[in-house]
Amino acid sequence: MDQIRQQIEALRQQLHTHNHNYYVLSQPVISDREFDQMMAELIRLERQYPEYADPNSPSVRVGSDINKSFTQVTHRYPMLSLQNTYSEGEVADFFNRVKRSLNEDFVIVCELKYDGTSISLIYEEGRLSRAVTRGDGQKGDDVTANVRTIRNVPLLLRGEQIPSYLEVRGEILLPWSSFDELNRERAAQEEPLFANPRNAASGTLKLQDSRVVASRRLESFVYYLLGESLPADSHYENMCLAREWGLNVSAAMRRCNTLEEVFDYLRYWDRERRNLPVTTDGVVLKVDSLSQQRNLGYTSKFPRWAIAFKFNPERALTRLDSVSWQVGRTGAVTPVANLEPVLLSGTTVRRASLYNEDAIEALDLHVGDMVYVEKGGEIIPKITGVDREARFLLGDKVTFTRSCPDCATPLVRNEDEAVHYCPNSEGCPPQIKGRIEHFVTRKAMDITIGPESITLLYDKGLIHDAADLYTLRFEDLAALERWGETSARNLLESIEQSKAVPYERVLHALGIRYVGETVARRLAHAFPQIDLLLEASEEELTAVEEIGSRIAQSVTAYFANPGHQVFVNRLRNAGLQFTLNEEMLAGRTEKLKGLTIVISGTFSLHSRDEYKAMILQHGGKNSGSVSKKSDFILAGENMGPAKLEKAEKLGVKIMDEKAFLAMIAEE
Ligand code: IVH
Repeated sequence: MDQIRQQIEALRQQLHTHNHNYYVLSQPVISDREFDQMMAELIRLERQYPEYADPNSPSVRVGSDINKSFTQVTHRYPMLSLQNTYSEGEVADFFNRVKRSLNEDFVIVCELKYDGTSISLIYEEGRLSRAVTRGDGQKGDDVTANVRTIRNVPLLLRGEQIPSYLEVRGEILLPWSSFDELNRERAAQEEPLFANPRNAASGTLKLQDSRVVASRRLESFVYYLLGESLPADSHYENMCLAREWGLNVSAAMRRCNTLEEVFDYLRYWDRERRNLPVTTDGVVLKVDSLSQQRNLGYTSKFPRWAIAFKFNPERALTRLDSVSWQVGRTGAVTPVANLEPVLLSGTTVRRASLYNEDAIEALDLHVGDMVYVEKGGEIIPKITGVDREARFLLGDKVTFTRSCPDCATPLVRNEDEAVHYCPNSEGCPPQIKGRIEHFVTRKAMDITIGPESITLLYDKGLIHDAADLYTLRFEDLAALERWGETSARNLLESIEQSKAVPYERVLHALGIRYVGETVARRLAHAFPQIDLLLEASEEELTAVEEIGSRIAQSVTAYFANPGHQVFVNRLRNAGLQFTLNEEMLAGRTEKLKGLTIVISGTFSLHSRDEYKAMILQHGGKNSGSVSKKSDFILAGENMGPAKLEKAEKLGVKIMDEKAFLAMIAEE
């Protein structure tokens, strides 16, 4: 046993070192693949020997979905914000104020102002012990489990002069590339898009499932240290040390002795920020000396020793040529402004989002108007105003279309929703093609066919829905214009391979509204066979973690449609997977047969979902609430007091996770 522990410890040490080599020294000494293999080995051992668990194991980067609502934590040092300035004049005022108050030499450190969500990282004896959001500045949310998944937040600091208690303040960001990818996925899913990387970062940090957090590639930048025994009196020197300890400190930090040097920095980064992989919205100026910072002190709201200089949002004026309407696979109709091409933040903008009817009304838009477009951190530029002076020829007023641009069906708008839908889901071509496009995506069935080919097959009458893919014939494909035998064979092969795609991805591929990748996974585990899902009531569905009534209604409505039942059956006959994978099924027993089990509290050995899956796997039934029918409660920590009371009153047994695991492990 001790040997195992040593092996686990050794792997952890090695992985920490490789992380340090990679993220701090930028000098990896092993390949990513070797790293992944070591990590996989560590995860395997940790699963097998949960008694050696360590919250700072490098394996936490992978995340876990143990579900906890966040607890509130009071900041030892409040998290303040900065006074904003918008001109060089105001920056000069700050500089001169500092000069007058101190009446001695001083240095100003200029840094980029990263536009994400702020975080306080607490290190005790060099180990990350807690990560807390800003909250209201006095109290924030404990998001430690999520922050541990961020690759460039070191779990252990290493190096010299590390204070035994250290608070590190910084920003959590989502780089543009990850943001774009995330929104592309959400668009394909017809989920609401994140407006900008900042919202995406703060939204991600508040997710309950840290595995999803881990998949989103957040990054950290640290910009300030707090503690009783910081190594140097200089902010700049402390930051340089922090970098050596493994924290991600920006390389764009600069010490300035004169106002001119500060201006140089502002002007340089106002241009260069366009080439950065992350969003910045200004520059922060700080007095370097910590004792001078103390002398300057604070106003009621801000430090007197620092200010923020905000960059102007980039804006351009151009002409609105026309408005077009896009129909998505669920029938949602969105307006798009077609613009005379204009250069903005280094890219040519041709289109801008118009969101919805209310947004169009508010702008009182007319075709031919000169409009302002901004790219204030948003992926899709938006129209923020109209130059009415320039409106000499009045074009048609832009009004929201009343009928589908593709099939002319009158649109419907659900009450308290801003979105218009085309209800003709079975006959509207972009919806049909959109559903097939969704069906074949990488995260669904992963069939190699592009949108143009789907349109071609659809127009030729070879496919009317995704199930038709499985009856395509080689001769028909090979005879298509510009196709030939190779393309035909490749497509058929890819379709054939898709039959092995696991059940949870097949569920995702069906394209049920609101059933994205994560929801599909949850449903597949809760209902390990499609017939169970087909028959599930709204109530049974909402009993599943993170399935609310909106999703539940969408699922029951989908399967209530006879057309969808036929569709699912055709896919089933084609040989697609509609049962949870064999590994899970092979381990099926009837040990819990006839037992109704309630899960409550938070667990440390497995996640709640895993326990739910185990109950199903062993023939038991999982229920959301305690009643006379409950046989026992599988209870973790912090079980709700109401449940506890009810259980005691009804005499329902309570079992902890160890006892439960022993029960199902019994021969
Ligand atoms: S220093 C008391 N430095 O901007 C000093 N803040 O309006 C506190 N921020 O809440 C902040 N980059 O979230 C500082 N280099 C930087 C920063 C930075 C971004 C954010 C931070 C803070 C807000 C201040």
